[in-house]
Amino acid sequence: MSDDSILSGLSYHGEEQAENPIRPRLLNEFLGQEDIKSNLRIFIEAAKKREEPLDHVFLSGPPGLGKTTLAGIMANELGVDAKVTSAPALDKPKDLAGLLTTITERTVFFIDEIHRLKPVIEEMLYIAMEDFELDWIIGQGPSARTIRIPVPPFTMVGATTKPGRVSSPLYSRFGINVRMNFYNHQELQKILTRSASILNITITSDAAHLLAGSSRGTPRVANRLLRRMRDFAQIEGEGIITTDIVHSGLKRLQVDEKGLEKLDREILRTLITKYQGGPVGAETLAISVGESMDSLEDFYEPYMIQQGFLKRTPRGRVATPMAYKHLGLEWNSNENQGLLF
Ligand SMILES: Nc1ncnc2c1ncn2[C@@H]1O[C@H](COP(=O)(O)OP(=O)(O)OP(=O)(O)O)[C@@H](O)[C@H]1O
Ligand SMILES: [Mg+2]
Repeated sequence: MSDDSILSGLSYHGEEQAENPIRPRLLNEFLGQEDIKSNLRIFIEAAKKREEPLDHVFLSGPPGLGKTTLAGIMANELGVDAKVTSAPALDKPKDLAGLLTTITERTVFFIDEIHRLKPVIEEMLYIAMEDFELDWIIGQGPSARTIRIPVPPFTMVGATTKPGRVSSPLYSRFGINVRMNFYNHQELQKILTRSASILNITITSDAAHLLAGSSRGTPRVANRLLRRMRDFAQIEGEGIITTDIVHSGLKRLQVDEKGLEKLDREILRTLITKYQGGPVGAETLAISVGESMDSLEDFYEPYMIQQGFLKRTPRGRVATPMAYKHLGLEWNSNENQGLLF
């Protein structure tokens, strides 16, 4: 992923510090995603009433939509401890055992990037999730034996940007499945307004509306653009983010009114000019624009697909007529016919 990609949903190094003060702590501060929230609210209330841990939760969706935030909120709403780790940090069985043997009753145990768990760790996790026990091997060679260590009943929260890569035995052990989708314009505007008030930034409602449209459906991007617009407003304006500031700021960041940035447009242009609009394999396309498959699939494509610029077909990626139009290129229906569907 390019470092200068202002619209990437992925957080950059150190961004968490900037995000912390505005990260929602409770469900009512978490704006948008109403269906998800109302269900979660009920599951949380019910678990609290029964004095049981919340069922295991599987969170999936593109980066920056609030998966980590939601895991923290669940712990806060349940009034329990949270333990946070990520799959790449769980290298050896003892890494997982070390965490699970120190949790308290009903802890929310969050594992990020759950599609990257190693098989041995995954096996251990199955048993922990199902029986609240750890299989532990002591001794070596012929005298080795397995003992089972109980762990307090807990809630496993697993997050991933690639739900398709999670093995089905692991996936099937989650009782609650939360699939997060891009936020709509109105939700993003609310998020921007909330963040601005916490950060003491003055933004007109027209400007917030405009900025929401370029936020790629992603709260992290919205908040990042807000911080950049604050810079422009401070140095080049009167300190207030107006529509003029947003217009010129977005132009300088090369973000267009559809929320596409330079690299998005480059992907579409490459697809159209080099590969006649496709279909072309994702790997070839990624190499052509100098990006990794991961960032193409996780960061760039989902939004462009949702916006209708791009399609994933069994034979590869295809640019839609809308992509041609957006780039000001001519769509040749004879040449492109039949490839879309
Ligand atoms: N619903 C929301 N309301 C308000 N702010 C939000 C919401 N969702 C996310 N945010 C903001 O966006 C930022 C990014 O969210 P978060 O870190 O939870 O994303 P994520 O889905 O875990 O991303 P990643 O896949 O990169 O781990 C948070 O700091 C938070 O301030
Ligand atoms: Mg996260």
